[in-house]
Amino acid sequence: MIIFRFVDIAGIRKRIEELRKEIAENNRRYYVDSAPVISDYDYDMMMNELISLEKAHPEFITPDSPTQRVGSDLRKEFDQYPHRYPMLSLGNTYDITEVEAFADRAVKSLGKTFTFCCELKFDGTAICLTYRHGRLVRALTRGDGVVGDDVTENVRHIGNIPRKLEGDGYPDEFEIRGEIYMPYEAFDRLNEERLRDEDQPFANPRNAASGSLKLINPAEVSHRGLECTLYHLLGENLPFLTHDEALKAAASWGLPVSDKRRICTGISEIEEYISYWDTARKALPFATDGIVIKINELPYQKELGFTAKFPRWAVAYKFKAEQALTKLLSIDYQVGRTGAVTPVANLEPVLLSGTTVKRASLHNSEQMQLLNIRIGDYVYVEKGGEIIPKITGVELDRREPGTIVPVFPDKCPDCGTPLVRDEGEARFFCPNADGCPTQLKGKLVHFISRKAMNVIAGDATVDQLFNLGYVRTPADLYSLTKAQLLTLEGWKDRSAQRFLDSLEASKQTAFDHVLFALGIRYIGETTAKTLARHFHDIDSLIHADRETLLSVEDVGEVIADSILDYFSRQENLEGIDRLKAAGLRFSMDEESAPASYALEGKTIVISGNFSISREEMKELITRHGGRNSSSVSGRTSYLLAGEKPGPEKIRKAKELGVGIIDEAGFREMIRLPQKPSDVPDSGGNDALQLTLF
Ligand code: IVH
Repeated sequence: MIIFRFVDIAGIRKRIEELRKEIAENNRRYYVDSAPVISDYDYDMMMNELISLEKAHPEFITPDSPTQRVGSDLRKEFDQYPHRYPMLSLGNTYDITEVEAFADRAVKSLGKTFTFCCELKFDGTAICLTYRHGRLVRALTRGDGVVGDDVTENVRHIGNIPRKLEGDGYPDEFEIRGEIYMPYEAFDRLNEERLRDEDQPFANPRNAASGSLKLINPAEVSHRGLECTLYHLLGENLPFLTHDEALKAAASWGLPVSDKRRICTGISEIEEYISYWDTARKALPFATDGIVIKINELPYQKELGFTAKFPRWAVAYKFKAEQALTKLLSIDYQVGRTGAVTPVANLEPVLLSGTTVKRASLHNSEQMQLLNIRIGDYVYVEKGGEIIPKITGVELDRREPGTIVPVFPDKCPDCGTPLVRDEGEARFFCPNADGCPTQLKGKLVHFISRKAMNVIAGDATVDQLFNLGYVRTPADLYSLTKAQLLTLEGWKDRSAQRFLDSLEASKQTAFDHVLFALGIRYIGETTAKTLARHFHDIDSLIHADRETLLSVEDVGEVIADSILDYFSRQENLEGIDRLKAAGLRFSMDEESAPASYALEGKTIVISGNFSISREEMKELITRHGGRNSSSVSGRTSYLLAGEKPGPEKIRKAKELGVGIIDEAGFREMIRLPQKPSDVPDSGGNDALQLTLF
């Protein structure tokens, strides 16, 4: 008897296409936006399904399938350079039997005695460093594996990456690859700041690391607390027999190499290492998402070679992100300092990654609808490095009768004012900015925060001062008396005096910080700096019309409207008058004021050597109102080329028609101090005063 098995070829093809599309979309969110929306596990499961479908139907494999290429993190703001050796990813698995199969395959195909090197899998973003004659000359991201983004300037601001190697004995030229990551402490600090500034926090340390590595302003990178660990040395005729030996040598040159690796002789030692680190990693100060198992002997690595995407001599065993299932008891709706209302879930306490979780974020009303969540449901909670755990799903099979559909409030839970939602916003806001107690207290906390007025006090002090009716707006702080402060619980003469001294000292805070401290919606630290530099004093900013605001770099419609709205309110103007009367600075002082506005609105890329250091040159650009950028793009106004400029930058500038100036031409330009209003709007690449190459 003949049995016909019907295979739905059209259906398989359709599923392959669907998976490719979804993977491509998630690659973009992960690599380019540094903001993934699905868990690593779900992503890996999608990829595994695609791999098995393509394996069963090789006729459908195309070179552009995500199974054949690494996801790309390339961004147009950076120059791109080719990798000398393709920068591949690793095959990964969540299944220990596949690690066993990897070890078996290696034994069979090598047929000789060898060892494995087991290492931690650092959860960051891949980097490739080139050292020439002991100096760091280039740092590239993985990019698409063939070319990478040039992030050399940014990498020079990462503390544990040496610009110059120690000792001698290093090859004239070599590459070393590794991971840039953000330790938990730096991550928490960064996210706390972002939350305070009402910026979107990073989902986890890995996204924070990749986002920070791609910052446009290299100086800002140094404040992000990034670190690097290196795990793969490459070069021509390197004198090492094993991977372990190569890493030991790299460490002796002062390069950051982890000492947590272990040489294993077989699968049982590998499994021991995995099970040890599965627990021990929780005590590490940085995130790890698995273990990498590599063949240690370099000639055998060479023998095994690569597939299109992975080395055959290594595999990653990944730890599954811990999840817990628990009951949703209720939802609180919290009001932030700018009035944004966030739903926060109250949960039946559950143990997750060593801590008891009772609350988790639900983001916004759209997310609640997407999850189709009900009070009384069993929900999945995940941590994955976030400050506050999040709800990632609902176990619909366990939904019991009597669960309640949550209703997002239409009034502020704090002051009862009807909530509003701006067009295109996922969040609801309480518009009662000047009466809602939570918003008023939130604004005071923001005003005194470190990056704003830096007054030594915390939320509890603000709470007490507000509840006693001493303080309602920031200006009230400057009328506080010692007698009032002594009525606060636990306050003595010394603490009261310290607080008053700190308030007094805050009067010296520079204008850009004062502007940030006002807490205008969407005005973060950087925008406050730009505005302060552009308008020079508060009155010019108050009187700026929409068109003028929009002409400022990085100010779009949302920011412009928020500024106009803020200054249209009488209470805000009165508050500013009172702060002025208290002695706060509302204009740029001589030192922080630009030396001139000759470069106002100009973005300048520098390349090569100058009569002063590159850092000094960048400083000069900003002091004259310009902006420094690390790579040539359509938005570059000039390429400032010194001696021996990068040929790639010159080529790109020529290709894009960007004006190229030399140091003499540049110095000529900044000899023309003008006030902002006198600066003619000449657009991007005006040819005036250009010394063209
Ligand atoms: S070795 C040829 N070792 O994980 C590939 N990679 O998911 C050499 N990673 O692409 C990579 N820790 O960015 C290697 N100890 C380690 C690692 C590691 C983290 C990253 C790396 C890799 C990715 C794969």
